[in-house]
Amino acid sequence: MKNLSLLLCSLLFVACSNNTSKLDTIIDNAFRAAEAQSLLMAEKYANQEGRLPRTYENGKDVSSDSRWWCSGFFPGSLWYIYENTGSPAVLQYAKQYTDRVEREKFTTDNHDVGFMLYCSFGNGLRLTGNEQYNEVLLTGAHSLATRYKPSVGLIRSWDHNKENWQYPVIIDNIMNLELLIWAANHFGDSKFLDIVTSHADKTMVHHFRPDNSSYHVVSYDTITGLPHLKQTHQGYSDESSWSRGQAWGLYGYTYLYRELKEERYLEQARNIANYIINHPNMPKDGIPYWDFNTPEIPNTARDASAGALIASALIELSDYVEPQLGKQYLAIAETQIRTLASPEYTAQPGENGCFILKHSTGGYPFNSEVDVPLTYTDYYYLEALTRMKKKLN
Ligand code: GLY
Repeated sequence: MKNLSLLLCSLLFVACSNNTSKLDTIIDNAFRAAEAQSLLMAEKYANQEGRLPRTYENGKDVSSDSRWWCSGFFPGSLWYIYENTGSPAVLQYAKQYTDRVEREKFTTDNHDVGFMLYCSFGNGLRLTGNEQYNEVLLTGAHSLATRYKPSVGLIRSWDHNKENWQYPVIIDNIMNLELLIWAANHFGDSKFLDIVTSHADKTMVHHFRPDNSSYHVVSYDTITGLPHLKQTHQGYSDESSWSRGQAWGLYGYTYLYRELKEERYLEQARNIANYIINHPNMPKDGIPYWDFNTPEIPNTARDASAGALIASALIELSDYVEPQLGKQYLAIAETQIRTLASPEYTAQPGENGCFILKHSTGGYPFNSEVDVPLTYTDYYYLEALTRMKKKLN
């Protein structure tokens, strides 16, 4: 049975690789390939209690427990696959792997609780209405809110490197506000919205440069509430544009506009999009190198996670701008999806440690997770496919 499904997927994969295929066919095939690949992944860890896939590096599977910031992405991917294929087997695994992340609702020592819970339990709640998921998300939102310091006006992202950073906030943190917005909407607690708007507004002022690119880390002085350092962590240099950071910003301000309808967030999202899509170092296939400014371009690693995130964000942003610009965003997202669905990026079933996509970069400066599969790339790719599919219907 497994062999038959692998054969079927290989055939679909060949169809998928056809550059002239219609986009809806490419998307349908991509979901089928993703389903087969992710079932293999789910089977692999099914009996390893508490383990979740992380990457596949140097020919070896790398897994994590729920503490790793990416723990929610594999369950989230299963939810997106279930949403699009209706597979009962995928649904069962989506529930099982979502449960593995539950204890993170008590996480108060970093900002990643939003990623962990909203991608897993958030999608699970959206698709099943399971009342028990509400409690997990609400407890998680309260945990995340403990990291907000009113005198600084931001959520503190990290607790490490205290010798250098008084109060570090990373651009990635903008992604985790969505959990707080959900909690505000469902439980009418305006405290959460005050945190979100304060964090989003201060980030707009201090994280972005005049050209609308962003710093990775801004550390704030806890007395004055103003930045005392602006640096990189995973980028090429303090003044460079780390690709995934630009993508987090674009995605973040796009959903902030969706949820809060504040024109300033739409303006910010448009400006970031403009920076990204017109960057001279953006490859024609739409998948950025790991940093827009590394002098090693073009002889360096791509980051498919940034490509997938940008695609997903542009599809959403296309709804909020004038039709001509919206068409341009969709055309770029289509290019990105076609690239990611091609054999260059999509793994053959059973290969690539059972991850869907190849060629992502986690921490290039530390030689960590360079040109590997990553759970969040698969997650945002599946989200982009879902969003594009809805556009085509
Ligand atoms: N949030 C960590 C990263 O993007 O690598």
